[in-house]
Amino acid sequence: MNHSIIQAKDVCVFYNDKQALHGISMEIPEQSITALIGPSGCGKSTFLRCLNRMNDLIANCRVEGSIVLEEEEVTGKIDVNLLRKRVGMVFQKPNPFPMSIFDNVAYGPRTHGIRNKAELEKIVIEALKQASLYDEVKDDLKKSALGLSGGQQQRLCIARALAADPQVLLMDEPTSALDPISTAKIEELCLELKKRYTIIMVTHNLQQAMRIADQTAFFYQGDLIEYGESKTLFTNPAHPKTRDYVTGRFG
Ligand SMILES: Nc1ncnc2c1ncn2[C@@H]1O[C@H](COP(=O)(O)OP(=O)(O)O)[C@@H](O)[C@H]1O
Ligand SMILES: [Mg+2]
Repeated sequence: MNHSIIQAKDVCVFYNDKQALHGISMEIPEQSITALIGPSGCGKSTFLRCLNRMNDLIANCRVEGSIVLEEEEVTGKIDVNLLRKRVGMVFQKPNPFPMSIFDNVAYGPRTHGIRNKAELEKIVIEALKQASLYDEVKDDLKKSALGLSGGQQQRLCIARALAADPQVLLMDEPTSALDPISTAKIEELCLELKKRYTIIMVTHNLQQAMRIADQTAFFYQGDLIEYGESKTLFTNPAHPKTRDYVTGRFG
């Protein structure tokens, strides 16, 4: 495994009095793809949201434990806007803003004070290229993002995240609303992006985790049951619960 960029230690999350995560400890290697799998409600999204403090936005949600991103404690007193710039997020349902393709990607950089037109253009084009979308939209940058197909919208959301120049990309079931061809494009894109970024992806699709994730973490009822190389976890799991899940006995 590569050098770890994130170290989570004893992370517990509560919604009101209900505990959703019970002491999760895991290290995320940089420039790789980590898949989070497990049945619905096991805490995958909750854990993902801890990594860029999105749980702050949920009333009655309390996070305990430690998450260190390159020596910096994420759960402590840090600049959350800067954290979210470093740790970008892509959601299940593509959620482009109701504005032009260009403005969607330029949104983050503008918020961070970049006004120069040439500079913005450079950032937008580079992000669209990295998201494998540029060739499809280069003549339509002024058109509404809402006119794009679902798969294109999702790649636009990835471009929007990339324009903030992140280190880590969190993806919460990024292909579950997409058709197989669009899904394949996103998977291919992730394999390309991991050369530069660290990707942590929640997926319901076990085949997807097997195809693209370097390592996979299996969550069950708020516990991390097993975490390791994807190939091992899927073909020779250490824990009976993992075996039952990856062989489709429940979930
Ligand atoms: N905003 C919320 N308020 C209260 N409970 C929540 C909230 N979000 C998630 N939960 C609960 O936390 C647990 C884990 O949910 P979640 O992280 O969404 O699981 P997963 O992504 O694996 O499906 C579930 O029991 C869920 O009902
Ligand atoms: Mg979820």
